[in-house]
Amino acid sequence: MANKNTFFLLLTILILNVLKGYAMASNDSSNELEEMKAVPFDYYQLVLQWQPATCSNLTCLKPWSSRFSINGLWAGSYSGSIGRCSGSEFLQQNISSIRREQDEDWPSLVVIGSNPAVWGEEWDLHGTCFETPTFQISDYFRLALYLFWKSDVLQALEKYGMEPADGRRYLAPDFESVLNVSFGKPALRCSRNVKYNLQYQLAEVGLCFDKCLRHINCPSQYSAANGCPRNQFIL
Ligand SMILES: *[C@@H]1O[C@H](CO)[C@@H](O)[C@H](O)[C@H]1NC(C)=O
Ligand SMILES: *[C@@H]1O[C@H](CO)[C@@H](O)[C@H](O)[C@H]1NC(C)=O
Ligand SMILES: *[C@@H]1O[C@H](CO)[C@@H](O)[C@H](O)[C@H]1NC(C)=O
Ligand SMILES: *[C@@H]1O[C@H](CO)[C@@H](O)[C@H](O)[C@H]1NC(C)=O
Repeated sequence: MANKNTFFLLLTILILNVLKGYAMASNDSSNELEEMKAVPFDYYQLVLQWQPATCSNLTCLKPWSSRFSINGLWAGSYSGSIGRCSGSEFLQQNISSIRREQDEDWPSLVVIGSNPAVWGEEWDLHGTCFETPTFQISDYFRLALYLFWKSDVLQALEKYGMEPADGRRYLAPDFESVLNVSFGKPALRCSRNVKYNLQYQLAEVGLCFDKCLRHINCPSQYSAANGCPRNQFIL
């Protein structure tokens, strides 16, 4: 954990760079940064994976537990969806300094062996949307880790007596409002789980952040009913 503190210091520097980058870019549309940004985006969506939903349904090939881990960090637009972005090629060396944190908090549970292939896909699909000369591959992954660590969803649930337990049912509005208080309106996604007779289980939680990295309500294009039943679901 001492390690994480050092890490936070480094992240603070990263975050300041992120904010400085936007401040500069927003002055002048002919600014080099603005021009080189692949796609204009309005907000970040951190997508968390609920490990039990994946692993009690599919065969996971890595250790898992009742916790959230990172699925991805996506670029969001208020006006609709952001198309496919493109950018630099992902190399393992780009994230060698955060490899341990990546393995721990961003595992690819259903894939044998190393995770980088999955991180590379995430970079290609989503990370490239954020790429600028000052926001490179390692910045993308460090930003996702930073947002993940500052958003402890399980702790927020426990604070309101909503500890996860195998097969426990949650009322969708209660679940949403507990997260809403701590993080702004979440984007919840459920899927049917074979373990529970194909009943709906929470699979993903999306949390949204503005460009100053403050929690914001996820736009209504992600309504609570986005794959989750309105009444109740399993955690
Ligand atoms: C952008 O504007 C701010 C305030 O107007 C100024 O301090 C800053 O130097 C400007 N940056 C660039 C790159 O022009
Ligand atoms: C669980 O399996 C069902 C049926 O194969 C599938 O539709 C669903 O998407 C899976 N859920 C997850 C979280 O993988
Ligand atoms: C990725 O790593 C390579 C090798 O260290 C480096 O040349 C390249 O600039 C890095 N790319 C990005 C976008 O971070
Ligand atoms: C979420 O919180 C905001 C205030 O922070 C409130 O206006 C909104 O109604 C809440 N939404 C839900 C679904 O609880």
